[in-house]
Amino acid sequence: MSAIAIRDKVFWVGVKDPELRIFDIIMPTEHGTTYNAYLIQGEKTALIDTVKKQFSDEYFANIEAVTPLGSIDYLVVNHTEPDHAGAILELLNRNPRLKIYCSGAAVPFVKASINRDADITAVKDDQVLDLGGRKLIFKIAPYMHWPDTMMEYLPEEKILFSCDAFAAHLVGDSLYSDEQTHNLGHEFRYYYDCIMRPMAGYIRRNLPKLDNLDIELIATSHGPILRSNPRQWIDLYKEWTADRTAGAERVTVFYASNYGNTKQLADTLADELENLKFEVHLIDLTEVEEKLARDLIEASIAVVIGTPTFNGDAPKPVWDLVGLFSSVYALGKKAAVIGSYGWGGEGTKLVHDRLAGMKLKLYGEPYRARLVPSEEEFTSLRQYAAGFAAFVRN
Ligand code: FEO
Repeated sequence: MSAIAIRDKVFWVGVKDPELRIFDIIMPTEHGTTYNAYLIQGEKTALIDTVKKQFSDEYFANIEAVTPLGSIDYLVVNHTEPDHAGAILELLNRNPRLKIYCSGAAVPFVKASINRDADITAVKDDQVLDLGGRKLIFKIAPYMHWPDTMMEYLPEEKILFSCDAFAAHLVGDSLYSDEQTHNLGHEFRYYYDCIMRPMAGYIRRNLPKLDNLDIELIATSHGPILRSNPRQWIDLYKEWTADRTAGAERVTVFYASNYGNTKQLADTLADELENLKFEVHLIDLTEVEEKLARDLIEASIAVVIGTPTFNGDAPKPVWDLVGLFSSVYALGKKAAVIGSYGWGGEGTKLVHDRLAGMKLKLYGEPYRARLVPSEEEFTSLRQYAAGFAAFVRN
């Protein structure tokens, strides 16, 4: 593959990685991926992003099909994950006069990636880099999907360089979205679910920065360049990142129960929350599908987890649920943990502490009842529910 002109003096100089079968450890990539990088020529020359280190030679060859490496004036680093930053060091070695432009959050990451001196400029939102005859306007987009993420808009060519946003892991049969034989809509959603969904709240706050841009191409960091009504892809992100908690005081009570004691606690808590006018979803963790569990976490203003204690721990269905919290946007969501136990009762505390470590807001200490809940314990659980309700509504 060589450089491909996507507009006048704007080139794709990325590489393809069709054999990649797992991205970021977590995401199977049946169709591989691409590491997209772009070269823009004005009176000055700017390069947007590099590629994974092992593809450096191919990347340098693609650039040199357009211009010598030594002629590049600026390297714009949109994000420092190694799939885009892996060739920065070698690029600097080959062109020591290169000036790096990145977000303020990226500066320490760039330094920690190259471990050598470099000319690094931290840019601000809407700052302009004048290339002579054309300019790059920076759009800082924190946590879309790393804290360092930024994008650029090239008004003369109406191109948004969107970093990881609006991407797909797909080596297609064309560089462009409107020439794909693959189901791009499916791949686009799959990528969003795996990569972007945990940052939905941040993305929601960043998207308005793109509202007034006249965009003809979205030059992503992975997969096809989006052409033919590119705004449709931004609108999908708006739809998917909308605040699902809005409009209802929804609380989901998840529980796992072996002999029915934790279930009785969950039933009672759910009943009390309904009395207090919450919309309550009561979910048995041994039956729920992962998709519904994720959707409910996202759509609830608060969650309760009911867990027994087995062998000094919470059982696997409970940990499977807890593991889903980092796959959706759950930052700051309110939560409580309850459970029946026999002797140690460690399960509730372990789950409570893990959720707190994931930056959820936990109500008090876990509520525990020993073996079969007594009338006194049901009474104190109802009081606990009232306190939790006040905590959620505060
Ligand atoms: Fe494609 Fe976040 O790196």
